[in-house]
Amino acid sequence: MKVLVVGGGGREHALCWAIAASPLLTRLICAPGNPGIAEIAECFPVGAEDVAGIVALAKSEAIELVVVGPEAPLTLGMADACAEAGIPCFGPRKAAALLEGSKSFFKEIANAAGAPTAAHGRFTDAASARAYIRAQGAPIVVKADGLAAGKGVVVAATVEEAEQAVTEMMEEGLHGAAGSTLVIEECLLGEEISFFALCDGQHAVPLGAAQDHKRVGDGDTGPNTGGMGAYSPPPAFTEPLQAEVMRTCITPVLAELARRGTPFQGVLFAGLMLTADGPKLLEFNVRFGDPECQALMLRLRSDLLPALLAATQGELKDFDLRWEKSASIVVVMAAEGYPTTPRRGTEIRGLEAAAQVPGAQIFHAGTARDQEGRLVANGGRVLGVGATGATLAEAREAAYAAVAKVEWPGGFCRGDIGWRAL
Ligand code: AMP
Ligand code: GLY
Repeated sequence: MKVLVVGGGGREHALCWAIAASPLLTRLICAPGNPGIAEIAECFPVGAEDVAGIVALAKSEAIELVVVGPEAPLTLGMADACAEAGIPCFGPRKAAALLEGSKSFFKEIANAAGAPTAAHGRFTDAASARAYIRAQGAPIVVKADGLAAGKGVVVAATVEEAEQAVTEMMEEGLHGAAGSTLVIEECLLGEEISFFALCDGQHAVPLGAAQDHKRVGDGDTGPNTGGMGAYSPPPAFTEPLQAEVMRTCITPVLAELARRGTPFQGVLFAGLMLTADGPKLLEFNVRFGDPECQALMLRLRSDLLPALLAATQGELKDFDLRWEKSASIVVVMAAEGYPTTPRRGTEIRGLEAAAQVPGAQIFHAGTARDQEGRLVANGGRVLGVGATGATLAEAREAAYAAVAKVEWPGGFCRGDIGWRAL
């Protein structure tokens, strides 16, 4: 089978890595890819958000399955365009991708499906938003409705802070059009888990869970990032909790989307808060998490490719996926200055030595080759240093041993990935 993976980050490197191991694979291409992906797939310089360009590439290379990594191409209709061209595509169509693209749509679906989530109000004018905040009191959460590059959420400790967020998002246009509608909701307390389910429009199969580390600094301090590291499985998310989330969140939401004529096919990423009243949905994403995907792929024992294919063919009912019982971890190495102004162009060496550490696996994210062929930083999150181990402690030791072999003075990482479980 000829497969095209769309994207060029650490998540896509992990997907390529897993797909490359499939006996069903005859050719793997990636667009745009990155230098790490280029070691296992042919990379083509087509942007992930260039829907027409990707479809043209898939046609000219006679691709039999397109696997879309990031959300942006999905919200732009890449799955719809592939369907029109008769090319199977793993990932939801535009209408179902709205689950991530619009927070108010997510709330509407979750409520219609009876899935547990924070109580909320939806506002299109600042005065009513402020009145709601004053009536509810703090802590309270203010969210820009549309996609805001992961920055559209303010967890406000005080009423003043929440009102300030309304001013910035609605009146000062901080996130552009994404902030013209706000979702304001109850603040949930508990441990946060990323849970993934593979969906074929009707049926869902659990893909496992991971815990991300969103803050840039040790001890969960400093600004939010795309994710500084992840591990799997998170011990707080037990088998009974997973079954409960499948029953109360995933299955009813799939049924609700199908009922509306917009069935969801792809991977449903449930951001969950494990509250004292049980697991509640914070949000849905319509793709794998990054770096959660890297941690999950390190533990996957089944062939990923038939599972992705079964999702596109509506054949996931009773599909069996197997996972290593052991643990995995991914430590993200970011460029100095991340998340505000990451410094580009600094040289990275030592990856061969790092990959020699038993159990270690390096995933590239924001890397590039310079004119002399040297590996350099070319983004915020640059590398994912992954490892597996019989226990999380072992995996963590291996990952940090590999990190120590990476010679990159222009980069940094958190030193405490996995701390909640250890
Ligand atoms: P998001 O951009 O939707 O992933 O939200 C960013 C982060 O805000 C989440 O990972 C949570 O840590 C936090 N968050 C979002 N909604 C809530 C909520 N209702 N209560 C508490 N924290 C929240
Ligand atoms: N790591 C969180 C995300 O991918 O959204």
